[in-house]
Formats: sequence, structure tokens, C-alpha cells
Amino acid sequence: MAGGIEVRCVEERDFTDLLDRQVIALQRVAFPQEEHFKMKRWVHTLPLPHDRWFQAWAGHELAASVWLHHRTIHTPAGPCRVGGIANVCSDPAWRGEGAARACMRAAMDYMDASPDIDFGLLFCGAGVRRFYEALGWRDTTNRYLARIPGHDAAPIHENAIVLRYDAGPTPWPDGDIDLNGPEW
Ligand SMILES: CC(C)(COP(=O)(O)OP(=O)(O)OC[C@H]1O[C@@H](n2cnc3c(N)ncnc32)[C@H](O)[C@@H]1OP(=O)(O)O)[C@@H](O)C(=O)NCCC(=O)NCCS
Repeated sequence: MAGGIEVRCVEERDFTDLLDRQVIALQRVAFPQEEHFKMKRWVHTLPLPHDRWFQAWAGHELAASVWLHHRTIHTPAGPCRVGGIANVCSDPAWRGEGAARACMRAAMDYMDASPDIDFGLLFCGAGVRRFYEALGWRDTTNRYLARIPGHDAAPIHENAIVLRYDAGPTPWPDGDIDLNGPEW
């Protein structure tokens, strides 16, 4: 990683207006096609007060950011507590400097240390799959059902790649998984 990049963790409840604007600005340039990010930091799911954001800073410049959402999902083997990873991005000016990987590693360290998280779980496209696999994330073949308030549970997009990270000893379950809410 380039010298001078520092990773910090901030809880959603501690966001300032300035930090909110900085993350929106980063996500806007990193995901130019995503209309939701023009105004806010999330798409389907509102962050919880104790959710965490892992951010790589170069001085006052935000180089990369990762959101970790806490969610209990329902599986045939029982409930699982996951760290739902989302909004993984780096500023185009900082690509290739290790900033996004450093944020991911910090999020994975947090999950490893947390007694309240069994797995990491994320949704991604084919173009970034290897970025996550190089960090130890593994493919899943379960069927995933998302719940939007007022609607029946429905399978997520059929082309979505869903990767898991084992943050504890629990074996990953087979079968259908109810995300117990919308995607994150
Ligand atoms: C994907 C993204 C986060 C990578 O950020 P980055 O800051 O360039 O990544 P890093 O510099 O930390 O890369 C770490 C390693 O991953 C590799 N890598 C980066 N992007 C990759 C990709 N798309 N696929 C596979 N490997 C990738 C790097 O080459 C580097 O490997 P190396 O050390 O062996 O050379 C960035 O390109 C981005 O913000 N893209 C747009 C938003 C996006 O699609 N996010 C993913 C949402 S699921």
C-alpha cells in the first residue's frame, strides 16, 4: 500500500455531516451509474446505528470505503449473524494503491474479532469477484431470498454472485437463505 494511507473505522451513529458528504462524493465517482448514490450512502437498506464503515484516508482525502451492515439471516441450520459487506470502492485517483484492500482487511479483522459475527456476506459482479477471492472470500451456491416490507420474500437477481467469509467455526449451511430484509 502507498505510504501515508491510514484506515479508520467509524460507526454509523458517529457520522458527521462532513463525513456523510465525503462518502457520498466518493461513492458518486466510484459508482457513476448508481443513481441512489447521488444523494445518499445506501441503495436498499438503511444503515443501522452500530454498522461500521472502514475508510482509507490519505491526509484529509478519502481514498476508499467499505460499509459493514449487521444482519441476522435465516438458514436451514438456524440463524446466522453476518457482516454484510457493501459499497466497496476506491477513488479512481487512488486505484491500485491497496486502499480498498486495506479497508476490506480491516472489516475482516473486525469480523474475526467480533463474537457477534459468524460470516461475512457480499454481493458482487463478475468483474470484481477475484478481488474478493484473493482476500479469502468463497463462492456460495445457495438460493437467496430478500424481503422488502409489504412484499413476499423473493429471490435476488439470478446473476448475482454471493461470496462468504468464514469469521468463526460455524460451517456454512446448505439450502435456501432468507436475508431477513432487503439486500444491502
Ligand atoms: C474494485 C475496487 C474497489 C478496487 O479498488 P482498488 O483500490 O483499486 O483496489 P486495491 O488497490 O486495494 O487492490 C488490491 C489488489 O486487488 C487487485 N484488484 C483490484 N481491482 C480488481 C478487480 N476488479 N478484480 C481483480 N483484482 C482486482 C489489485 O490488482 C491488487 O492486487 P495486487 O496487489 O496483486 O496487484 C475499485 O476498482 C472500485 O472502486 N471499483 C468501482 C466500484 C466497484 O465496482 N466496487 C465493487 C462493488 S462489489
